[in-house]
Amino acid sequence: MSADGLTGRHVVVSAGPTYEDIDPVRFLGNRSSGKMGFAIAAAAVRRGARVTLVAGPVALPTPGAGEGDLRRIDVRSAAQMHAAVFAAMPADVYIGAAAVADFTPQQVATGKIKKQPGEPGLTLQLVRTRDILADLAGHGLRPRVLVGFAAETHDMERYARGKLSDKRLDLIAANRVGMAGSGFESDDNALVVYGAGLECALGPAPKIELAGRLLDLVAQRLEDDSPASGMAETR
Ligand code: PMT
Repeated sequence: MSADGLTGRHVVVSAGPTYEDIDPVRFLGNRSSGKMGFAIAAAAVRRGARVTLVAGPVALPTPGAGEGDLRRIDVRSAAQMHAAVFAAMPADVYIGAAAVADFTPQQVATGKIKKQPGEPGLTLQLVRTRDILADLAGHGLRPRVLVGFAAETHDMERYARGKLSDKRLDLIAANRVGMAGSGFESDDNALVVYGAGLECALGPAPKIELAGRLLDLVAQRLEDDSPASGMAETR
């Protein structure tokens, strides 16, 4: 194992938004550009990891093309992303940087929904999507290190720590959304990473730089978790 601790490791990263179809012309989406997740995938490839990048609908070129071992799987909906992430297992690390829809239309209309004369509005019935991170946490093939992101407009630490424990994660990277210079679409971001006994502020900095620093923390968790490190502690 190299000093950066990721050489030869299988790292699965999700990135971008999901689109939940309403009818053949409309969907529910969000503002994720995929930049954060693609930066993590690029940084992991450069460290010698074998990377599977599960990407929602984004307009980004495949990162690290020609530099290493990266397989990109394009998906559209939360259900497709769930299936693609599970199909990519087993993995040493899963990093959920995608902004996955929490709700999806109960039914997709087969034809374009038409407005009716005199109709004041339209009610859409939504149902919860399956949570990729929480399902992985309870799965027999749970990756050794499970990392979530928390996109918050307020009470960031409280909500991020809640997700860390509810979804049984090793690390969660919290970032602010709804403001310029961080979160969605921006080239820069600022993260606070929480874990057991860990609170680490990273940035503000370009997403590619933050990706490398986040991977340092991931590599450290892998190292802490390794049998050799356990033996060292008991000596
Ligand atoms: O793509 P960019 O424009 O670069 O923007 C980056 C980002 C803001 C999208 C990214 O940094 C980020 O915060 N990603 C997570 C966004 C999000 O959906 O956060 P959340 O708090 O709603 O979800 C918490 C975690 O649960 C996330 O890791 C998410 O991937 C995961 N999740 C959510 C729902 C679901 N059904 N399954 C999941 O695994």
